[in-house]
Amino acid sequence: MAITASIAKAELLTEDILKAAELLQSGKNIVFPTETVYGLGADITHSTAVNRIFEIKERPADHPLIVHFADLEQISYWAKNISSQARKLVENFWPGPLTIILPKSKHVPYCVTGGQDTVGLRIPDHPVAISLLKILGPQKAVVAPSANRFGRLSPTSAAHVSEEISSKVSMVLDGGPCKVGLESTIISFCDPKPRLLRPGGIPLNTIEEILNQKVTVSINHNNNLRAPGMIASHYAPRTPLEVWSTEALDHRIDELLAQEHRIVILFWSDVFNSGQQQRFKYLRMPSDPVDYGHHLYAKLHHLDNERYDRLLIEMPPNLPDWLAVHDRLKRASHHFSIR
Ligand code: TXA
Ligand code: MG
Repeated sequence: MAITASIAKAELLTEDILKAAELLQSGKNIVFPTETVYGLGADITHSTAVNRIFEIKERPADHPLIVHFADLEQISYWAKNISSQARKLVENFWPGPLTIILPKSKHVPYCVTGGQDTVGLRIPDHPVAISLLKILGPQKAVVAPSANRFGRLSPTSAAHVSEEISSKVSMVLDGGPCKVGLESTIISFCDPKPRLLRPGGIPLNTIEEILNQKVTVSINHNNNLRAPGMIASHYAPRTPLEVWSTEALDHRIDELLAQEHRIVILFWSDVFNSGQQQRFKYLRMPSDPVDYGHHLYAKLHHLDNERYDRLLIEMPPNLPDWLAVHDRLKRASHHFSIR
């Protein structure tokens, strides 16, 4: 019985994937799953569909899109000057949550790269995404940013894709919850030394081990505009979010207790516990960085719908493995305590 049900589900999914491929080929936009977050896709050869991504997301046109494809051999179709270090990395981590930036080939249009001569490339590790890309065939790719409005939380399940996005695409292809749950790690190979542009699904030290080389960290937090009144620009939930060190959090809770806010506290250390007190809700987060990253967006999406006045987050450990989580919390927060 269970086997029949899963075969039926797989057939349904195959039909959906074929339909999604047809839509892309006819110049439509779709939302599709990857192992990191859901993407808002267009066939790279349909410039109208590519341009529509920026309209749907309300994203500035000079923000480049990642090119997703299925076959490692095709890397030299999309990029040139591929260094041996870049090759080593993709051979180790593709398919997987790694995007590399390389000089673009003539096959990548400038509308994809925001006018730059470089391109971001990735082979995603999700069976639905891979089937979709394989149906499209060689010398084809799907360009996609995360399927959220500019400045908002990335979706890690089909249900997280907002009405504003889903109403403007031809299909939302449901591939279940994303197994990584944070965006890909981005490494640029466009300078003499490799650079980390965004921490993500693969920890930096794992990358440095494979490269046998230090990677320069150049994370850009400029799109986190924290000035009052610029809340719409956050990479964030709608609910105001504050991140406090363990000691400062206690104090902040006391302060807010006097002000009757509906508050939720996400903690990870044993200083707090879920049974705790009063009218504030305490939720335990995983104390492992990979698990924490996996649950973070899903938790924030859920809490956003519950309409709390404020989310307080206990600062996770200041250790290298937590870099991606710290980065996302910094972007999402209205307040990020400086220790
Ligand atoms: O996990 C992911 O990477 C997801 C899934 C859908 O693949 N995609 C994603 O896309 O997070 P997006 O557009 O939300 O973030 C991609 C980041 C942007 O910050 C963009 O500026 C950077 O990648 N990027 C893309 N191409 C680039 C390039 N040529 N040079 C520098 N940065 C680039
Ligand atoms: Mg994004």
